[in-house]
Amino acid sequence: MTTRLPVAILGGTGYVAGELLRLIALHPALELAAVASSSRAGQPVAATFPNLTAALGSTAFMPPEDVIEAAAGGHLAGVFSATPHGAAAPLIAGLLAAGDSPPTVVDASADFRFSDVARYQSVYGHAHGAPELQPAFCCAVPEHLDGTPTAHAAHPGCFATAMLLAMVPLLRSGLVEPEFFAAGVTGSTGSGRSPLATTHHPERHANLYAYKPLAHRHAPEVETLAGAASGITPRVNFVPHSGPFARGIHMTVQGRLTSPDAGGQLRSVFDAAYADSPFVEVLDAPPRIKDVVGSNRARLRVDSHNDRYVVMVVIDNLVKGAAGGAMQWMNRLLGCDEAAGLNAAGPAWI
Ligand SMILES: NC(=O)c1ccc[n+]([C@@H]2O[C@H](COP(=O)([O-])OP(=O)(O)OC[C@H]3O[C@@H](n4cnc5c(N)ncnc54)[C@H](OP(=O)(O)O)[C@@H]3O)[C@@H](O)[C@H]2O)c1
Repeated sequence: MTTRLPVAILGGTGYVAGELLRLIALHPALELAAVASSSRAGQPVAATFPNLTAALGSTAFMPPEDVIEAAAGGHLAGVFSATPHGAAAPLIAGLLAAGDSPPTVVDASADFRFSDVARYQSVYGHAHGAPELQPAFCCAVPEHLDGTPTAHAAHPGCFATAMLLAMVPLLRSGLVEPEFFAAGVTGSTGSGRSPLATTHHPERHANLYAYKPLAHRHAPEVETLAGAASGITPRVNFVPHSGPFARGIHMTVQGRLTSPDAGGQLRSVFDAAYADSPFVEVLDAPPRIKDVVGSNRARLRVDSHNDRYVVMVVIDNLVKGAAGGAMQWMNRLLGCDEAAGLNAAGPAWI
């Protein structure tokens, strides 16, 4: 029997944590050692995630301090942080400072997405909780960065993941002008567990509306990460929308080609960019979110007309856009197959 690598989760009652629990339960090489909750410590995890009752048995949430103690004792190979931005950095700093063999950390929050701490502080409007740790984290969609350049990793946000999957191959190709116009529609789980007026069911059901037009935090994040991945920092004009479904993102990215002849090359740009990726499919028809929800898959389609192009991308915000992408990073950092535990098909009809 092979020994599985013990991993823990911070922010255990959140939606992303729930998906991490599901993915760890399916993983051939990882085992859940601890799941931390500051609000429900001591309570059965299955009471929060009844869908996972069979996998979790009587596992209970631990206080975050106990997870830090387990890390200090060298009992954790990896820790997924699924807490809100601002809360993540100090928690991770405590974890990494405890003991001589700290775990590998993958953060789903925004705290380690900006290599320039001043940029983070200007976008988020508060001081960074652990600026000294920033160089220990890389942040990219795993498909866009080879190897393990740092000890720890941060995953881009969910809207950002969908945009970057479209934008980075285009920028690398040199066939497009470095300005993008993006419109994305997300399901309600994108806002996390705490209810807000805008995520309340009667507001959201059978409705569709934009929010924070040209002012969403993912635009500067995407500009920074697309620049780091391609060497060309684009301008990103982004209008997010709230969609009447629980999970999934549909992203439409448009822009101008550097020449009207370039359109014919776009399909091969994407085919080449994702030829070796088990999770990204380039399609002959526009993608649909039901074909990816519940899975770590991304599906995209590119079209062009004269000097304009459009790329449509669909992902599951909680999986490819958060827990699944984080698992790709954890797999890579811990020396597992990057796709381990991530190959389950989505259910389609949810
Ligand atoms: N939802 C998405 O689609 C998505 C996609 C990409 C990235 N993300 C990012 O992933 C992280 C988790 O997102 P989520 O949607 O799972 O959020 P969520 O449902 O709101 O859950 C976050 C969890 O973090 C813990 N928490 C809340 N405030 C905290 C604080 N001040 N200090 C420490 N822990 C705190 C809580 O768990 P306990 O009470 O159990 O500790 C909470 O349940 C966020 O940073 C989010 O931006 C989310």
